[in-house]
Amino acid sequence: MGFHKKTKEQKLPAFQFHHTEDNRAVCLHRFAGHELLAVEIMAHALTAFPYAPKAFRKGVAHTLKEEQEHVRIYMKRMSEMGITFGDLPLYKHFWTHVPHLTTPVRYVSVMSLTFEMANLDFAPLYGQSFARFGDTKSAALMEQIVKDEINHVSFGFSWLKKLQRDGNPWDNWMSSLSPKISPRRARGFVYSEDNRRKAGIPEDWITQLKYSKY
Ligand SMILES: [Fe+2]
Ligand SMILES: [Fe+2]
Repeated sequence: MGFHKKTKEQKLPAFQFHHTEDNRAVCLHRFAGHELLAVEIMAHALTAFPYAPKAFRKGVAHTLKEEQEHVRIYMKRMSEMGITFGDLPLYKHFWTHVPHLTTPVRYVSVMSLTFEMANLDFAPLYGQSFARFGDTKSAALMEQIVKDEINHVSFGFSWLKKLQRDGNPWDNWMSSLSPKISPRRARGFVYSEDNRRKAGIPEDWITQLKYSKY
């Protein structure tokens, strides 16, 4: 499997077109691609920060295993829907930001507290859409993803606090993001405050992200 030449991802089928299994499968294929990228970035983090605290490295390894499981469950569901992982384009996405991931704080800020946090909005939204068209299997899959993602975000937040004891966590997060990433990347278009609370994100952070303009 190779990367698609274009780094810009093609638009996913809009929600009103989720009535066809083919369109839902296209969504699952894209998400599986994100999961595989997460596995790769986490493996990168393990090799990039050999001197990070042992508990941090253990947590990253544990998360990596869960991401592998996510790839597996997406692959299984896709095969039921008649497609194979790799049938559609794969994108570089997270890899673009790897040069910025020079410290564990930057890693948790970009990976756990931006991309995984945004999935606290996207995954339930897609799950609800699949359920609306009677695809309970894909909806259940998305529910599992959300459940695990809450823990992944929680891991990131607790390590942001442990690694940067001074200052406000929100400010520390903002200053650890690459200039290529706007804070808005940490949310979807329907904002789940509740999932963030479950991940232990404080109220002031939830509010600031909700109204963040850039
Ligand atoms: Fe995942
Ligand atoms: Fe995750």
